[in-house]
Amino acid sequence: MKTLYKKIDPEDFRDEDLDEACEILKSGGLVAFPTETVYGLGGDAERADASEKIYAAKGRPSDNPLIVHIADMDSLYDIAEEIPEQALQVAKAYWPGPLTMIFKKKDKIPDETTGGLDTVAVRMPSHPVARALIRRSGVYIAAPSANTSGRPSPTKACHVKEDLDGKIDMIIDSGPVGIGIESSILDMSVETPMILRPGYIDFDMFRKIVPNVTLDPSLTAGKPSKAIHPKAPGMKYRHYAPKGNMVIVAGHDRKKVAEKINQLAREHELLGARTAVIASDETRSLYEGNGAVVLSTGSRNEPGSVAARLFDILREMDHIGAEYIISESFDDDKMGFAIMNRMLKAAAYHVIKV
Ligand code: TXA
Ligand code: MG
Repeated sequence: MKTLYKKIDPEDFRDEDLDEACEILKSGGLVAFPTETVYGLGGDAERADASEKIYAAKGRPSDNPLIVHIADMDSLYDIAEEIPEQALQVAKAYWPGPLTMIFKKKDKIPDETTGGLDTVAVRMPSHPVARALIRRSGVYIAAPSANTSGRPSPTKACHVKEDLDGKIDMIIDSGPVGIGIESSILDMSVETPMILRPGYIDFDMFRKIVPNVTLDPSLTAGKPSKAIHPKAPGMKYRHYAPKGNMVIVAGHDRKKVAEKINQLAREHELLGARTAVIASDETRSLYEGNGAVVLSTGSRNEPGSVAARLFDILREMDHIGAEYIISESFDDDKMGFAIMNRMLKAAAYHVIKV
């Protein structure tokens, strides 16, 4: 299949510029498009065949449900049932934006879209191109992140191209996304609302509106075990992993962390393994001369900058052929919790504490 490639400037476009993409969606095809979190791989959420194509293009297990993207509140009532008052308050605070909520689903959303579950994940994105695409096509867009299953989510159109060129109908390129990690997921289909995936909207931001909100226990349990299953099916899979072996060195004393990382880097360079260090703007100079490639994922004072670069850096590890990757850790409060959730998965929970 030839994948069409179209640039759309998010600050300067006309809705007509999206007509080709809308036609593809309406006829059951797949279009990768930008959202404020990561690029999504979109298809018509009401068509089982479109959802099946999404699973095939990504190589994604079909028990891992898709998020349905909408542009207004009427659409929520059209696809979901039993919408609690608290959910409306959360929606008022954080939609459109980097938030997904889970509800009981209506029959018009086929089982293929929800991986056989009787619930549906719904998100109202704020990205102008995503919103225009949903509105103009008149389609509820089922969209997982537009990466091959297991790889880091795409934060630039070139990441999508790297994974899905020739497998989907079209890629819309609107430049790098703003947030860089996927939406926070809040389960509103249960008695006590539960955060299933951390994101830009953190625990305290939810608690302001939903005082009884809880965290899926698997999010703080460390390495996944048979005893503790994450409730979001996608959270149980190996994810974000670069091809090289990745380890995180954690500790409060920056100097000790740097010493350990330098020691590991030298050891592995001596063994002939191409080694890379993931550092921050504040600490990168501590790793000069250890033989490894050193990349900064952003400033420790601005977790948003770290989130925005993280997946690009993880992909960069493959481009430079890194065989051994040593990363600093980041504070895991607020958005840092979401950042560390992604980093731990990328490192398959391999952590050295100093
Ligand atoms: O920011 C985002 O959410 C991006 C953009 C494109 O919107 N999308 C995204 O989709 O990250 P995906 O498919 O990569 O991740 C969706 C997650 C998976 O972990 C999936 O298991 C979970 O949401 N999920 C979807 N429907 C669910 C449901 N009914 N119950 C529990 N978890 C669900
Ligand atoms: Mg994903």
